[in-house]
Amino acid sequence: MVIVVGVTGGIAAYKAVQLVRLFIADGHEVHVIPTEDALRFVGLPTWEAISRNRVTTSVHDDVPQVRHVALGQKADLIVVAPATANTLAGMAAGLASDLLGTTLLSSTAPVLVAPAMHTEMWRHPATQANMEVLVSRGVHVVGPDDGELTGGDSGPGRMSEPEAIHKAAAPLLGPGDLRGLTVAISAGGTREPIDPVRYIGNRSSGRQGVALAVAARERGARVLLAACNIEAEVLRPAERDGIAITPANTAAELSKVMNGYEADVIIMAAAVADYSVENVSEGKRTKADGHPSLSLVENDDIVAGLAARRRESQQVVAFAAETGDDFIERGRQKRRKKDVDLIAVNVVGWTQGFESADNQVAIIDRSDEVIGEAAGSKAEVAHAILDAVLAGR
Ligand code: CTP
Repeated sequence: MVIVVGVTGGIAAYKAVQLVRLFIADGHEVHVIPTEDALRFVGLPTWEAISRNRVTTSVHDDVPQVRHVALGQKADLIVVAPATANTLAGMAAGLASDLLGTTLLSSTAPVLVAPAMHTEMWRHPATQANMEVLVSRGVHVVGPDDGELTGGDSGPGRMSEPEAIHKAAAPLLGPGDLRGLTVAISAGGTREPIDPVRYIGNRSSGRQGVALAVAARERGARVLLAACNIEAEVLRPAERDGIAITPANTAAELSKVMNGYEADVIIMAAAVADYSVENVSEGKRTKADGHPSLSLVENDDIVAGLAARRRESQQVVAFAAETGDDFIERGRQKRRKKDVDLIAVNVVGWTQGFESADNQVAIIDRSDEVIGEAAGSKAEVAHAILDAVLAGR
């Protein structure tokens, strides 16, 4: 995993050296971003030697590599240790005044802070208000500990020990139970052209497929994501190291992308059009052409094809979007028809499933049993599906 360690200007910076060592010993790729002030405590060569990576502090270094956002996009976790009162205030305000600030702003990875400052500064309402803001945004906090501070004072404000920070970081890096596996996922909805400006589409937003890609990555998998017409804002969480995104527009394009992937697990979460238009017009159709009539041809069933050609130990997962009461039975039939290993059946309707943030699925395996159920956020549903995948390996 890729860990960015932000080091800010406090005497505890020297303890961050040990933290970086612990992450390196676990086999992670570590990038240290010290602030200018932090370099007064521990110098640049130390960080470069210990992290085995180039270290810079300014947004003006490595400009062609767009380093000020590249590290944030690449990170699986950002740890700020020590985090001074000034840095925490900057984070709460969203300041982008240095490389650490821009990295934090351009990242969707979990963030862990280890505050370190004098007791008075820690207890000050301004610092406490900043902490509240950060925690409400999902930032994780370890410490500060109660103990001796610089200058002989004592009280809360001492940075947690590197071992404690390392332990607090572990759950944020995910279980790593999919490490070594490549997971190919399709997401979104295909569009079948009618003429140069019109298409037949569907209401799939791509949220469930993107949540699957992010969840699989968090668990250590290498992810290949075929993205069908997904809005930029929905796709953004998947734009990170370890997830390779390939756009696909039509069912035919998606079929080509999915069949070109080399993967251990294939999850077809995309809503694929069952038909495409045979008589696509070269020019835009107008009313003057008369009453339109579309001739449709059936598309290949991509997931059934992938399942039929799968190699041993490769798992194929399909989705079944169903309406009505007997959805489990229809899911079973669909799994058999497509001969997939798992099917995630979800109930869709005018207000359920497609564009909403939440989802509800039942997961059925080859025994026809419902081996997993999940209702909640699309991330929770994604993890339940990945649990079922792992159980089947
Ligand atoms: N799917 C596919 N290729 C298609 C159509 C669907 O790979 N041409 C996949 C979807 O990605 C999904 C699963 O098949 O994983 C179920 O799609 P669904 O539309 O519910 O099933 P259909 O086979 O099209 O059945 P129905 O007759 O209910 O539309």
